[in-house]
Amino acid sequence: PGKATVLVASNRGPVSFSVGNDGDLHAKRGGGGLVSGLSSVAAEGEADQVWVCAALTEGDRAAARRAPGGRLDRAGLTDASSPVRMLDIDPGTLHRAYNAVANSTLWFIHHMLYATPFSPVFDGRFGREWESYVAYNRAFAEALAEEAAPRARVLVQDYHLALVPKMLRELRPDLRIGHFSHTPWAPPEYFGILPDAVASAVLEGMLGADQLGFLTERWALAFMDCCARQFGAAVDRERMTVTAPHRGTPTRIGVYSLGVDADFIVERAMRPDVEARLASLRESVGDRQVIVRVDRTELSKNIVRGLDAYADLLRRHPEWLGRVVHVAFAYPSRHDLPEYREYTAAVLRTAKQIEDEFGTPQWEPLILHVEDDFARSLAAYRLADVAVVNAIRDGMNLVAKEIPIVATATGGSCGLVLSREAGACAEMAQDALVVNPYDVTGTAEALHAALSMDREERRRRCERLAAAGAALPPQRWFARQLADLTSDE
Ligand code: G6P
Repeated sequence: PGKATVLVASNRGPVSFSVGNDGDLHAKRGGGGLVSGLSSVAAEGEADQVWVCAALTEGDRAAARRAPGGRLDRAGLTDASSPVRMLDIDPGTLHRAYNAVANSTLWFIHHMLYATPFSPVFDGRFGREWESYVAYNRAFAEALAEEAAPRARVLVQDYHLALVPKMLRELRPDLRIGHFSHTPWAPPEYFGILPDAVASAVLEGMLGADQLGFLTERWALAFMDCCARQFGAAVDRERMTVTAPHRGTPTRIGVYSLGVDADFIVERAMRPDVEARLASLRESVGDRQVIVRVDRTELSKNIVRGLDAYADLLRRHPEWLGRVVHVAFAYPSRHDLPEYREYTAAVLRTAKQIEDEFGTPQWEPLILHVEDDFARSLAAYRLADVAVVNAIRDGMNLVAKEIPIVATATGGSCGLVLSREAGACAEMAQDALVVNPYDVTGTAEALHAALSMDREERRRRCERLAAAGAALPPQRWFARQLADLTSDE
């Protein structure tokens, strides 16, 4: 295949394969905000674009081995029109890089999820895990160096690949390299949990890029604060640049907010598979008001406190008993990690308590499913009177944007209870009911306010939330970053 002029690199790619009982490979859309954002970009892609990602499952590895030159063509496999190159990385290395370093360490740091006595221990074992993270980053850098045409533009995604920019620059100084963080960035005191050598490697690795992108100003400034603490004076907050000690050239720090491709999601939400699920959900909820949440089963999404807040609402405002249903759909996520398995169990336990305390033969107060069903989530969006996003910390949170968009476009309207710690809050605070995610009573009162809101007022707010959510579609988010990489000349 020819060399690419635009390259995207991320751990998770747009598709994932599983091996069926028949031995055939079945393709499925990848989950999470990064893939939701990038997939529609890739679908519009230029002809010479390539998306480099890791083979994460046995099925992925089989697909990668079958693909000529490692590149999968879209042919019937995926919505993405750009070819995908899946890297078949040694499973042990991948496990240590992805689960131990990226998800158990860097994700926990940026979302501030550690709590004593479960705070991290950095010993010889972490040393080995870190070596794997380095090797895994190197595999990406080498594949990108091989795939890229002269002076190509490369957009590296997220905390899995923090070391790639510096490594890639050493291999291919001609390339124009950007990195984008889909997560929050930790404040320096918290980032300082990392061993010094690791903290430096992460920051210097990223500063190998020409430009670094963040979802909000808050995360961009936190990154610069971490650089100032780690390296001293190389930070220029006026110009928004940081110069790494090993490089003379400053790296630009940019803020690129990400919204929803409204046309795509609305069209998707009207397809027959969604209609079918909508009909059956409608039957369960009847004419009651519906509170909706949709998340990955992810510690940072704060699902347990969200369910506790619902129970608190029913206790504090018993007028809602029998008149409201909470629909909570959760996608299974990262179940290789014990923290995530335990968290899922805690979510299920809390749901059971709610059922035991409030359920009656005539009324099911909570409909909770832990399952991967995008169509059913969209059906829930269409029914929502209130949406809850109460994340402890979140880079952006696209669900907060998707629900008002789908509700408005399909003739409904919903109030939004939104965590002040989600990036989306920077753009939606005016029309949402903003909560402190740790404050369960406060969240319960916000749910009450949203349920009690005058219909007309709710509709007006929902329309404005939808407009804010659709203002920066992924295509624009991506195009702006590419344009900024070009303006380097
Ligand atoms: C977040 C991260 C993404 C990640 C997604 C799903 O949105 O920013 O990089 O892909 O979560 O997590 P997973 O571990 O399943 O890829």
